[in-house]
Amino acid sequence: MNTQQLMDTAKALVADDKGLLAMDESNPTCNKRFARLGIPQTEEARRAYRELIVTTPGLGESISGVILYDETIRQKKEDGTPFLKVITDAGIIPGIKVDTGAKALAGHHGEKVTEGLDGLRGRLAEYSQMGARFAKWRAVIAVGDGIPSGGCIEANAHALARYAALCQEAGVVPVVEPEVLMDGEHTLERCREVTEQVLRMGFNQLYTQRVMLEGMILKPNMVLPGLTRAQHEDVNEVADATVRCLLQAVPAAVPGIAFLSGGQPSELASARLNAMNLRFKSRVPWALAFSFARAIQQPALEIWQGQQANVSAAQQALCHRARCNRAARRGEYTPAMELEVGPEQRHAAQASH
Ligand code: G3H
Repeated sequence: MNTQQLMDTAKALVADDKGLLAMDESNPTCNKRFARLGIPQTEEARRAYRELIVTTPGLGESISGVILYDETIRQKKEDGTPFLKVITDAGIIPGIKVDTGAKALAGHHGEKVTEGLDGLRGRLAEYSQMGARFAKWRAVIAVGDGIPSGGCIEANAHALARYAALCQEAGVVPVVEPEVLMDGEHTLERCREVTEQVLRMGFNQLYTQRVMLEGMILKPNMVLPGLTRAQHEDVNEVADATVRCLLQAVPAAVPGIAFLSGGQPSELASARLNAMNLRFKSRVPWALAFSFARAIQQPALEIWQGQQANVSAAQQALCHRARCNRAARRGEYTPAMELEVGPEQRHAAQASH
């Protein structure tokens, strides 16, 4: 394990107020998002969409790293240039999703455990040789009546820690993603309680598996009330609850926390990240960054609709969301920034979730 290299990569992923763009949807997830918009669910359509993303002018000004999927890391632009070359030429660090998905956890109705440890050492060696410098593994924790169970939290934390240790052995920075899902009617306080429990167990397991905390990134959910709850707290309450929770559970040795967006509307995700940085940036030991998929991509996808003629407008929307989130890292995001793009991009950002 090259300790210095891991620490340097982890720091670079959260440097200069930039963040990560997750474009690692599995084929079924990507197809589901295409289907909703009437876009053909083919390998060529997925390739064309990912080409739109990686060729977005100016993307590297706000994005430090992109998370790819096994299909995508092997794909090329229409002119034959590998995506990996386009990405690194833009000064962006390539990463890869390495889990193989969340499956039903035996004996635990309604709960899941993420799989993918079998053969992971070999897959990491291949991805690292191709140029991937970081990897992602997502665990999902559902909140509901009597769940999450201790068994589900522990099984997922153990798998995350085993994955993280294998990544570091391969010289690849692990992005550790324990996601407490937004689905449900639970309160903000219940989400805070579960998130803290999940993070505490997560770091216990990371210590046990000897993961070097300076060479990893944490990718948690924000602390939010359940989606179907009528009353939603304002951005400052969300920011306070999230940072208070993280302070209880995340060691200062971790260089960066890069939030997932989890289905929040794009503008709200930016506003909440902004509130955290505005109120706490100078008082927390880690960078508070982003690793959004939907909250960056969704407006662009809605504009693109699978049509070549819409590529440029979609790229402007993508770049704009990335810029808004970079501003949010500085506590400089304002709703007025949303007026910097045309009505088409604005409408898509407001509608996206
Ligand atoms: O694993 C999930 C993605 O990396 C983050 O996606 O921002 O749409 O929640 P999201």
